[in-house]
Amino acid sequence: MRNSTTAGTEKTHDTVLSVRDICVAFGDNVVLDHLDLDVYRGEILGFVGGSGTGKSVLMRSILRLMPRQKGVIRILGEDYDSVDEDTRIALDMRLGVLFQHGALFSSLTVRENIQVPMREYLDLPKSLMDELAELKIAMVGLAPDSADKYPSELSGGMIKRAALARALALDPDLVFLDEPTSGLDPIGAAEFDELIAQLRDTMGLTVYMVTHDLDSLFSVCDRIAVLGQKRVLVQGSIDDMLAFDDPWVQAYFQGKRARMIPDRNRKTNFAAADNGADPTGSKPARVLRSETS
Ligand SMILES: Nc1ncnc2c1ncn2[C@@H]1O[C@H](COP(=O)(O)OP(=O)(O)O)[C@@H](O)[C@H]1O
Ligand SMILES: [Mg+2]
Repeated sequence: MRNSTTAGTEKTHDTVLSVRDICVAFGDNVVLDHLDLDVYRGEILGFVGGSGTGKSVLMRSILRLMPRQKGVIRILGEDYDSVDEDTRIALDMRLGVLFQHGALFSSLTVRENIQVPMREYLDLPKSLMDELAELKIAMVGLAPDSADKYPSELSGGMIKRAALARALALDPDLVFLDEPTSGLDPIGAAEFDELIAQLRDTMGLTVYMVTHDLDSLFSVCDRIAVLGQKRVLVQGSIDDMLAFDDPWVQAYFQGKRARMIPDRNRKTNFAAADNGADPTGSKPARVLRSETS
């Protein structure tokens, strides 16, 4: 694997996304340079890197929304560039996407937003699409009456959930989430992380999550990949990150904010927090973390 370090033990994995030797430049601005990355079936991969390093560019170029100069992308076993049109459509239906500025269509209700991918790819009767939308709304923990609301009537957290419901509209195998918890308060972010983990377990999802939320990385991500110097510097476990000899990686994972996370393996019952119960004996973990020095 060129220019990339994979830390951790050698193991056979079912690779659902394989990115090899990707180069993306805008004029003279080289953003990604010979980048390699793997995502394994059933995992939540946290993808981190400094602001403006190319995390969104990589996601967009994987999804063929942005041109690249070089590289091979295999998704769910297929070379995404060389498949025929029918196979590409079939592949696209197995991918869900939540973009960074997660935009729902403002002129459509939540139900209609969730039905956008269904209308694009499937020819279903309205009654069935309504049923499916209701199901997705329940899956992401929104109240049934959210279906008729417009995005402007929703809180930030509800918008993220509705956008997630739309990403899950076609029961994808692999979902791409670009900073899904940015802009949420710590409790909202923790609940969203819990939801992602729960959906991964119940739907058998694989999750590619761009984030710079250290709490997400410590609490729900199975593996982490770090973007730096225009490529993936390291991919592996939190322990691999802590052991990796690079100033940015060290500062990020061993800096002051990271040290404030006392127990990265703690499993907290956020549903209990939601009901006003007391999940940790006092407060939800993120509140505890930010108060612990
Ligand atoms: N459409 C574009 N045209 C030109 N440059 C772009 C475009 N999109 C992103 N870039 C540049 O690519 C770099 C990485 O951007 P981005 O992937 O959005 O960063 P981030 O890691 O914060 O998501 C930035 O320097 C940005 O200016
Ligand atoms: Mg971005």
